[in-house]
Amino acid sequence: MRFPSSSVLALGLIGPALAYPKPGATKRGSPNPTRAAAVKAAFQTSWNAYHHFAFPHDDLHPVSNSFDDERNGWGSSAIDGLDTAILMGDADIVNTILQYVPQINFTTTAVANQGSSVFETNIRYLGGLLSAYDLLRGPFSSLATNQTLVNSLLRQAQTLANGLKVAFTTPSGVPDPTVFFNPTVRRSGASSNNVAEIGSLVLEWTRLSDLTGNPQYAQLAQKGESYLLNPKGSPEAWPGLIGTFVSTSNGTFQDSSGSWSGLMDSFYEYLIKMYLYDPVAFAHYKDRWVLGADSTIGHLGSHPSTRKDLTFLSSYNGQSTSPNSGHLASFGGGNFILGGILLNEQKYIDFGIKLASSYFGTYTQTASGIGPEGFAWVDSVTGAGGSPPSSQSGFYSSAGFWVTAPYYILRPETLESLYYAYRVTGDSKWQDLAWEALSAIEDACRAGSAYSSINDVTQANGGGASDDMESFWFAEALKYAYLIFAEESDVQVQATGGNKFVFNTEAHPFSIRSSSRRGGHLA
Ligand SMILES: *[C@@H]1O[C@H](CO)[C@@H](O)[C@H](O)[C@H]1NC(C)=O
Ligand SMILES: *[C@@H]1O[C@H](CO)[C@@H](O)[C@H](O)[C@H]1NC(C)=O
Ligand SMILES: *[C@@H]1O[C@H](CO)[C@@H](O)[C@H](O)[C@H]1NC(C)=O
Repeated sequence: MRFPSSSVLALGLIGPALAYPKPGATKRGSPNPTRAAAVKAAFQTSWNAYHHFAFPHDDLHPVSNSFDDERNGWGSSAIDGLDTAILMGDADIVNTILQYVPQINFTTTAVANQGSSVFETNIRYLGGLLSAYDLLRGPFSSLATNQTLVNSLLRQAQTLANGLKVAFTTPSGVPDPTVFFNPTVRRSGASSNNVAEIGSLVLEWTRLSDLTGNPQYAQLAQKGESYLLNPKGSPEAWPGLIGTFVSTSNGTFQDSSGSWSGLMDSFYEYLIKMYLYDPVAFAHYKDRWVLGADSTIGHLGSHPSTRKDLTFLSSYNGQSTSPNSGHLASFGGGNFILGGILLNEQKYIDFGIKLASSYFGTYTQTASGIGPEGFAWVDSVTGAGGSPPSSQSGFYSSAGFWVTAPYYILRPETLESLYYAYRVTGDSKWQDLAWEALSAIEDACRAGSAYSSINDVTQANGGGASDDMESFWFAEALKYAYLIFAEESDVQVQATGGNKFVFNTEAHPFSIRSSSRRGGHLA
């Protein structure tokens, strides 16, 4: 089953103006097997096309039925998609991928002198391998028929990390953003890295140390992170809101600008997720998240001049803010909600719900029903932000933003925040909004053999397919979409505490550190 718009209309989910939640209409949600099955079917359609036309290359180009190897050529869609197939209980796909894992040569790339992003390689491959290992040794152990193949997940993760760790051989220990595997393992020699790429390694590398018993991985990642937790050089804009670029030679900050979007996003995300992983060992990370979260509420939350009911997150340069944001920052709602759950602080949950609702508003306002990559507005208090281009002034009056980058590449962040909003409120309206988003994606992005990136969300048909299906479609978008309708399980986020898993920034769930290890030597 697909996600026909007609069914959404029939269910009365699209209101005349704004479809997002109005107060006082709470209806208790429950698992929805029909919708969960539709998401699973979309995953199977995507996988079958990838397997037929692209496996074991990285991404399928679903219109031309060709492929690319932009993620080192190790089969990123297969490794990124494995744990989603596990959660969906598709044993055929799981075992197809498991049999492939031992065949990957993580010590080299087919193409000589191809730079590998340490960040992308970490969150997709290392994250995917470790998550599958935790799930298949934990709540989904019945899916794996061959323990040798399960063990190879961890062995391969370690092989990969043993190559990647050359990134940390800088004078400061701040990782280099790029490494090479062929013809020799080496790092690029970059003079700086950004805080997202420095600060989104610590969860994966700490988990790898805990699983292998080798403390070196955690030590390397935590050393790099230490420069972000105790910032020196160019000052913080506000307490906890740090700059973007850090010197690899001495670990000092080179600027005081940032946002909750690219280059910075998952640094903030991981501060509170490390606390979920082990609240004793990573209490300081939580303190830094609280500082940044409070400064964000105080200084970055911004209401558009034409829609004061909306809250978006401005970017900052020192204490000067700019009202622009984008799809990547849409994860912020979910991250605030998670922080609110873990710290039992309603103010973070309330702010997170406002963000989730407002960023979903960028979906409901476009002709395609999908939010754009980038957008801007005028801040209702400071007047910062200039004015919209004349072609969009009417749109800005009603929507509260104008589009600065119109494309959509199957990104997951809005679905992710709808998922957290549903888990914390239990209100079925969030499930309905996720279904509405999925229906729009089905209508505009279903192309060729699978699902494709599109050029222009402001056109009803999406402005044409740009012929790429990124691996995060498998790993993240379809996973959060599935979980919002799926049965309760140990993997689901628990609103009242007792969480057993923590999702990395690519939506790969890891078992949290068991209490017997808490406060151990690794941190
Ligand atoms: C992996 O590639 C390296 C470098 O080309 C090679 O030396 C090694 O034998 C390969 N390993 C396997 C298992 O094929
Ligand atoms: C498990 O997989 C390994 C590696 O592919 C293979 O050598 C072995 O025969 C398999 N074992 C069983 C019982 O199928
Ligand atoms: C750190 O290194 C950067 C270059 O990466 C340089 O501009 C800066 O002056 C250095 N700071 C200190 C305190 O050495």
